[in-house]
Amino acid sequence: MAPCAVFCYSSRMNFWQSVKQNTKPFFALAPMADVTDPAFRIIVAKYGKPDVLWTEFVSADGLCHPKGRESLMKDLEYSEAERPIVAQLFSSNPENMRTASKLCAELGFDGIDINMGCPDRTIEKQGCGSAMIKTPDLAIEVIRAARQGIQDAGKDIPLSVKTRVGYSRDEIDTWVVRLLGEKLDALTIHARTRKDLSQVPANWDYLSQVVKLRNEIAPETVILGNGDVTDMSDGISKAKSTGADGIMIGRAVFGNPWIFNKEVSIKKKGSWKQNFFLQLLPPAWAKKIMGDSRYTISDIPLAQKLNVMVEHTRLFEKLLGGVKNFAVMKKHYKAYATGFPGAKELRIKLMETKNGDDMEAIVAEFLNA
Ligand SMILES: Cc1cc2nc3c(=O)[nH]c(=O)nc-3n(C[C@H](O)[C@H](O)[C@H](O)COP(=O)(O)O)c2cc1C
Repeated sequence: MAPCAVFCYSSRMNFWQSVKQNTKPFFALAPMADVTDPAFRIIVAKYGKPDVLWTEFVSADGLCHPKGRESLMKDLEYSEAERPIVAQLFSSNPENMRTASKLCAELGFDGIDINMGCPDRTIEKQGCGSAMIKTPDLAIEVIRAARQGIQDAGKDIPLSVKTRVGYSRDEIDTWVVRLLGEKLDALTIHARTRKDLSQVPANWDYLSQVVKLRNEIAPETVILGNGDVTDMSDGISKAKSTGADGIMIGRAVFGNPWIFNKEVSIKKKGSWKQNFFLQLLPPAWAKKIMGDSRYTISDIPLAQKLNVMVEHTRLFEKLLGGVKNFAVMKKHYKAYATGFPGAKELRIKLMETKNGDDMEAIVAEFLNA
């Protein structure tokens, strides 16, 4: 009998099955290019570790070329504190996907994920990201090649895909069904089509449909829902209403590395949706009383928050200085420095900074004023 290479789940319990069993729902940090880099992931793991972390996406084609490889290897650096950590790759070239998956397995990642949802034109031009939705046969080839690469490394780590529900319309019955047929270890569904980009609200009804199909076609595949989750309490209610096993949070972590910290995010902060009496009011009134919880910062003392921003900057310089542009940090500054008196003035000054010394001096001046 041929060895069970492509179509079987691994016989031992992989980490996806254990996080699913241990925490309902479990939470994952979304992969975000130039955001969830090795420095920010260390900060997130320290202040509010989610159940699973992801790297930014990395070009498998680039990893296969001696020129691009060196700088991309920086994106694949991780610390033990981040486990379980999944390496995310993209490519429309099965051979390169196989080689890059072997590399990631050898680097000791806990899992490999393939990006099949990114709408960025430069990625789509390479036939990758969301473009894969339009070439399902090739997508399947790429998935099988990744699995082969893991085997080439002599490893048995799980393989997952992150995608959207369709290209221009809902293609769950074709696209997602094809993916489920591959018996992936995990599948993350960003609850939008490619055409939606991030311009319309995520539609979590899609998750209910995917979970139902999963139960019929691939009961072992762990399903993560993604899109517009504002905090853990929001994620818990979305998981309850759809049956998703895990919740992936992206943009809401900007400036809020405490978002996965249960004490801070759920106990202290709460939200109007959690308050029984406020739930009796029309949502617009409840929001008025409590404030809109969308992308708000956890209940962290201001000095602590700004000191973590400094720590994050120092770590960025140490790990990525000379590799990534310091401007990457500005995205974070905008999010850290918001929602308190004087935030706007502080933000303007931070936008002018060129290095950690500059920014630390500005923060010290602000805190001592
Ligand atoms: C700045 C930025 C970079 C992103 N980079 C990636 C990426 O590298 N890989 C990926 O699969 N998705 C990427 N995404 C998409 C997010 O992982 C996530 O699917 C999307 O932001 C929706 O989730 P959210 O509403 O919780 O942010 C990125 C999103 C943003 C905002």
